[in-house]
Amino acid sequence: MNIHESEKAAGILENLGYSETNDEKQADLILFNTCCIRDNAEKKAFGNIGAIKKLKKAKKSLIIVVMGCLAQEKGTVETIKEKYPYVDIVLGTNNLNMLDKAVTTVFNTKKKQYLIDPNEKPDIIEDERVLRTSYPNAWINITFGCNNFCTYCIVPYVRGRERSRKMEDILKEFENLLKEGYKEITFLGQNVNSYGHDLQDGSTFAKLLEAADKFDGKYRIRFMTSHPKDLSDELIETMHSSDKICKQFHLPMQSGSNKILKEMNRHYTREDYLELVRKLRESVPDIGLSTDIIVGFPGESEEDFEDTLELIKECRFDSVFTFIYSKRTGTPAAEMDNQVDDETVKNRFDRLLKVVNEISNEKVNEKLGEVVDVLIEEKNERLDNYVSGRLSNNTVVHVPADESVIGTIQQVKLNEAKGFYYMGEIVNWVYQSLCKMFGIIS
Ligand code: 5AD
Ligand code: SF4
Repeated sequence: MNIHESEKAAGILENLGYSETNDEKQADLILFNTCCIRDNAEKKAFGNIGAIKKLKKAKKSLIIVVMGCLAQEKGTVETIKEKYPYVDIVLGTNNLNMLDKAVTTVFNTKKKQYLIDPNEKPDIIEDERVLRTSYPNAWINITFGCNNFCTYCIVPYVRGRERSRKMEDILKEFENLLKEGYKEITFLGQNVNSYGHDLQDGSTFAKLLEAADKFDGKYRIRFMTSHPKDLSDELIETMHSSDKICKQFHLPMQSGSNKILKEMNRHYTREDYLELVRKLRESVPDIGLSTDIIVGFPGESEEDFEDTLELIKECRFDSVFTFIYSKRTGTPAAEMDNQVDDETVKNRFDRLLKVVNEISNEKVNEKLGEVVDVLIEEKNERLDNYVSGRLSNNTVVHVPADESVIGTIQQVKLNEAKGFYYMGEIVNWVYQSLCKMFGIIS
C-alpha cells in the first residue's frame, strides 16, 4: 500500500515537472513516505528525516516533505516543528491530493505547510495521476481506512474509517491497466473482504473479483489483506471458479489463542480460523496460504503462545510474517497492564521462527519437479542472465533467461528448492507437448 501511495506522490510530482534521481545530493525535493505500524518503523523514519538535515543546510532550496501514516499520527506535527523544523511540508494520509499545491506554495513563498485533515471519513478523490514503478505488476486501492479497531493497531487512528471506491471506478482503472500491458493487478485494502459494505449498492468483494475476471487476455489478479471474520463462502467460490485469480490467500491470524484473539478484538476463534483454512484448501487445493502473527501481545502466557504454535503447525502456511508486539500510544492494548517482558518475547519469537521456517521449507519442497505458470517480473540483480518471477501461489522462482521475457507468463520447471524460493528453467513448447502427450504434466 505504501509503495502504491509513493507511486501516486511521484505521479503528482512528475506532473509538476520533477523527475526521479537516485542521488540525494542532486535532488530538489525529497519526500519521505512513512509508516507507524510499529515503533521501529517510526524510529527509522525519524532517523532518516534527521539524517537529511545536512543536505538542507548545504542546499537551502531543497524541499523536504513528510507524508503517510506517521505524518497523520497525533503529536507528529508538533515533534516536526520542534525537532525537524527544516521539514517544509507535512502531509496527512487524507491530504495527498494537496501535494502539488503545497509544493508550489513552498517553492514560491518558502512558507511551511502542515496539512493534516482530522476528518475520519474524507471523500475519495478519483482521477489521481500515478507513476507506476513495478511493471508488469500494478496496484489498485479498493478501500481506504479501517473499521476494525484491533486493540494493538494504530491504523484506524491514522487512516480513518473504511471507505470503498465505486466498483465502476475500480474496473475502469483495472481495464486501463490491462490495456497498458500490466499482467498482474493487486487489489489493496486494509480488509478487502468488507469491500462495498459502506456503498450500500450491493457491491461485494466477490462481485468485484468476478467482474475483474471477465476481461480478455492472460493476466492475474491478487488481493490483500483479508480479515478472517469477513471471509465469505461467496469469495471462496469465486476463487474456485476463476483461473485469473491467483491461488494465494494472505489471512492474518495474529494469534492461535482464543483468549488473546478476544483481547485483540479480532472477532473469530482458532476453531473459526481452522474452518476457513479447511474450506479454502478444499475449494482451491493448490492454494498458497500466508499469515501474520504477533508475539508478546499483553497477557500472552506460555500456554497462549503454544496455542499459536499448534495452530501454525495445523495450518501449514507457505509463509508467515512474524512481528513482535509493539506498543502504540492511543490504542487500547497500550493501556493493558500485563505487558510481556522482552526476554520472554525474544525467546518465543525465536521458537516461532524455527517452526515457521521448517514448515515453509517442507512446503516449498512439495512442488519440486513440477512445471508451473510463472509471471516473469524482473531482471535478477544478483545473478547474471537470470530473471525472477512468481508462481500463482506467490512463491518466487529464478530462471536463466534474458529480459525479453519480462511481463510474460511462462511455463517453468521447478528444479531446486532453496528454503522459500526455487531455481527453475523455462520449458519450451515442444518439451511441454511431449510431457502432456505422455501424461507427465496436465
Ligand atoms: N505490533 C506488532 N505488530 C503489529 N501489526 C499491527 N499492529 C501491530 C503492533 N502494534 C501487524 C499485524 C498486521 C500487520 C500488518 O502488522 O500482524 O496484520
Ligand atoms: Fe489494523 Fe488490520 Fe485490525 Fe484494521 S484489520 S485494525 S488494519 S490489524
